[in-house]
Amino acid sequence: MADNGQDDGLIMALPKGRILKEVMPLLRGAGIEPEPAFEDPESRQLRFATNHPNLSIIRVRAFDAATFVAFGAAQLGVVGNDVLMEFDYPDIYSPLDLGIGRCRMVVAEPKEVADDDNPERWSHIRVATKYPQITRRHFAGRGVQAECIKLNGAMELAPALGLCRRIVDLVSSGETLKANGLVEVEQIADITSRLAVNRTALKTRSEEINGWVESFREVADAA
Ligand code: PRP
Repeated sequence: MADNGQDDGLIMALPKGRILKEVMPLLRGAGIEPEPAFEDPESRQLRFATNHPNLSIIRVRAFDAATFVAFGAAQLGVVGNDVLMEFDYPDIYSPLDLGIGRCRMVVAEPKEVADDDNPERWSHIRVATKYPQITRRHFAGRGVQAECIKLNGAMELAPALGLCRRIVDLVSSGETLKANGLVEVEQIADITSRLAVNRTALKTRSEEINGWVESFREVADAA
């Protein structure tokens, strides 16, 4: 235990929710076995030991996994490139595409709007999204001013309730768009999760961290 009360083991930040199921085989392939409570969605525990005395895991929201790594509170993490693109943290190095959490970031609108719409003609649009930076950047690139309303989830409700006509969100199966009468009109990016590393930790603890990066690289390459 260091003087500041923090132990000196490495911490890996993992996103909770559905992506965790895809993370588990990678973890195990890299030889990491978390304590049993980690896979119990009912557990209120947030930090978990692993079979490696010098490595523990925290289970946090997807956006927060990036924040913990960016500030060095976790040295490693699994972070979607949606989050990396939105925040563009200079202190995160993300050397490895893990090939999990595969989905797309798209612009969607109600089907009846899309039937009569031409995205080429947009000059100003109002969009509900969790990703205001990516959205503004994407549209600014072709001279469209995007006014973003930040929501943290359930974006698909916004058009029906008159908040805006369009949303920018992640689509995987397309079921959520369909269930809410929305159709995709434009793709912004392909999304997967990446291994994220704090740059300072990479310099000061390069041997340990590079060891883990290589273990994950072997598992991701073999998948
Ligand atoms: C994501 C995304 C969509 C949905 C798309 O939300 O924001 O709402 O999944 O998946 P689909 O195309 O397979 O239907 P998530 O369930 O992760 O929760 P969130 O609304 O809290 O972001």
